[in-house]
Amino acid sequence: MKQGKRVGIIGAGNVGATVAYSLAMLGSCHEIILRDNKIDVARGKALDMSQAASAVRSHTVVKVAEGMEDLTNCDVVVVTAGSPRLPGMSRDDLLMINANITREVIQGVAKYSPDAIIIMVSNPLDAMTYVALKESGFDRSRVIGMAGILDSSRMAAFIQEKLGYGGGQIRASVMGGHGDDMVPLPRYSTVAGVPLSDVLSEDEIDEVVDRTRHGGAEIVGHLKTGSAYYAPAKSTSIMVDAILKDTKQIHPCAVFLEGEYGYKDVVSGVPVMLGANGAEKIIEVTLNEKEQEMFKNSCASVQDLIDSLNKNNFFEDQ
Ligand code: NAI
Ligand code: 2OP
Repeated sequence: MKQGKRVGIIGAGNVGATVAYSLAMLGSCHEIILRDNKIDVARGKALDMSQAASAVRSHTVVKVAEGMEDLTNCDVVVVTAGSPRLPGMSRDDLLMINANITREVIQGVAKYSPDAIIIMVSNPLDAMTYVALKESGFDRSRVIGMAGILDSSRMAAFIQEKLGYGGGQIRASVMGGHGDDMVPLPRYSTVAGVPLSDVLSEDEIDEVVDRTRHGGAEIVGHLKTGSAYYAPAKSTSIMVDAILKDTKQIHPCAVFLEGEYGYKDVVSGVPVMLGANGAEKIIEVTLNEKEQEMFKNSCASVQDLIDSLNKNNFFEDQ
């Protein structure tokens, strides 16, 4: 029997397990259910995390789903299942592999947790959010991609590093897709309310923007065998927490656009209000000509991926 809030996490690898740990430490929900093909690894992590939750007197219990049929009646489902890019694999190969994994798991979510809000994390993020939306048949407010909080946090950290002060007081803003042509917005970034252009030179801001765009690759360059997971997981748990607690806070998230910013039938990162019903409202901020051009390029990159899926008959191939 279900007691309190239940969060399903599909993919108990680096990001999924760290989301679970973060939520268990916060005590955001009563139950977390981990689902991974590597069932024994998921079992071990679930036990370990339940014990950590006991250590901090958190009421959260972490369990394992033996199959998708155990992922019933979740309030939120986070999807981090995916394959890494392996040697010899093209971007398109990876796109198709992860689209098929997303299809498989989302069909299970729609069947066993039909009222859930889905948070997509798997890459390529915007395209996978699109696939999840189409496969679930859910309203667009209930299928949300995580990337904007992560990319904005990276930008804030790089601003702090440049300044040498302001930690915890920096609000950085990034919109667009989760790729090299994401749209960092210095004009909407502040340090304790002070515009960025008052504390950093134009060149310094350009450096921050460039580093933000390649923030994920910078970490892969160090780790070599995988990608970032602490900041991605924390960003995801912020979204889950906002939904479970119905905070109505504004966060940049990837959502399906239906005319907002002049785009439709594509997913992109925009500021949204998160609450118990998911992405309850999309906020349209004013973009200048240069920012609009960047947003256009970013949407075009996501569109290219969707076109690739169509070219491979992905959506007809059911
Ligand atoms: P990982 O390889 O550590 O974990 C992925 C897990 O998915 C593995 O444990 C694997 O067994 C599992 N899996 C694969 N197919 C499955 C299926 N059909 N059902 C259940 N489980 C399945 O990878 P990591 O580092 O956790 O990253 C996960 C995904 O998130 C990747 O696609 C990565 O690129 C993406 N990512 C996205 C970010 C974003 O900003 N949106 C940030 C960081 C990672
Ligand atoms: C990141 O930005 C790999 O998308 C992942 O770290």
